[in-house]
Amino acid sequence: MKSMVIGGIILVIALIAGTYFAAGDAFIGDDYINSLTMLGAIAIIVITVFTTLKYVNQMKNDTASGELKDENWDGIGEYQNNVPTGWAIAFIGTIIWMFWYMTIGYPINSFSQIGQWNEEALDYNAKFEKKWENPSTETLEAMGQSTFLVQCSPCHGVDAEGIEGKAQDLTKRMAKEQVIHIINNGSNSLKTAYPGGMPAGMAFGPDVEIIADYVAGGFKGEQPAAYATCAGCHGADGKGMPYVAPNIREYDDALVIAVLKDGKKSNIGTMPSFDGRLNETQQKALAAYLRSLGE
Ligand code: HEC
Ligand code: HEC
Repeated sequence: MKSMVIGGIILVIALIAGTYFAAGDAFIGDDYINSLTMLGAIAIIVITVFTTLKYVNQMKNDTASGELKDENWDGIGEYQNNVPTGWAIAFIGTIIWMFWYMTIGYPINSFSQIGQWNEEALDYNAKFEKKWENPSTETLEAMGQSTFLVQCSPCHGVDAEGIEGKAQDLTKRMAKEQVIHIINNGSNSLKTAYPGGMPAGMAFGPDVEIIADYVAGGFKGEQPAAYATCAGCHGADGKGMPYVAPNIREYDDALVIAVLKDGKKSNIGTMPSFDGRLNETQQKALAAYLRSLGE
């Protein structure tokens, strides 16, 4: 016992010396909070060492007492002592607490990280929507530009002029080759917004060139007679009809929102779907930004 106490004292001194060595300045400085922390550290060292010593000592020297049970296993027996009161209370208390926790405590106070995240996301979205309820055109264009730079510029280029072979030039509504490609091949990418799609071969022969020039040229000059077929769906002014055909004259909200939802695959490549990644305001902002480029 004596040697253990001496060992304990040596250990305490060593630990305090180590602490002093590592963070001793705290004693000297005039910040009393540091000094208190240091005293706390010393107290913890002393209590830990001597409590451990007490139990080690008890394990070495204690003998059990009481009445042995009749059975024994290879000479190892069991005492017939009563359960300690403190232990019994804790045991019963735990059972009561379990019933409380399973029936009332958990269901009522349940915390979930995912739930918290969802709540915060909803809050944030509500705040965002309120803040941008009626944005001006300038605000939309500025917001659209910043979203564009992050989400779209890797393919369409920072100035939206497209990257050769990678994505469409968005400063113009449509290039002539694209219009020709669509007239010859049809298209049905925007299934959600225009379920019917556009059949191939809506025009033939020289008409194709003439119509393509007119559409890609921005509907300027006299309308070619052959455009009449197209007008049935896209309208005489090319501005489209809901559920029938998109605006092929300028980037209106409906077209941009449809492209962002379904993506698009055609002669240039594949425009990926951004479904669920941008909110409504951001999609309208992108459309406003694209329109502003054409002006
Ligand atoms: C992975 C590359 C890529 C990214 C990123 C991308 N696009 Fe595209 N985008 C394309 C390609 C390729 C096309 C041409 C599709 C085709 O051939 O019709 C296209 C076409 C478009 C069109 C024209 C569609 C039409 O009907 O004429 C719009 C509008 C458009 N993108 C908007 C966007 C916006 C807005 C973003 C950012 C939110 C974006 N794109 C991000 C590749 C991309
Ligand atoms: C039956 C109705 C219908 C007719 C007729 C029609 N279109 Fe379309 N057009 C559509 C639909 C629907 C789309 C959308 C295609 C998609 O979902 O990818 C479309 C898409 C287009 C596009 C591509 C728009 C874009 O943003 O990429 C062009 C260009 C176009 N049409 C031009 C024409 C021309 C030119 C004609 C006449 C020769 C014509 N269309 C006749 C229904 C029609």
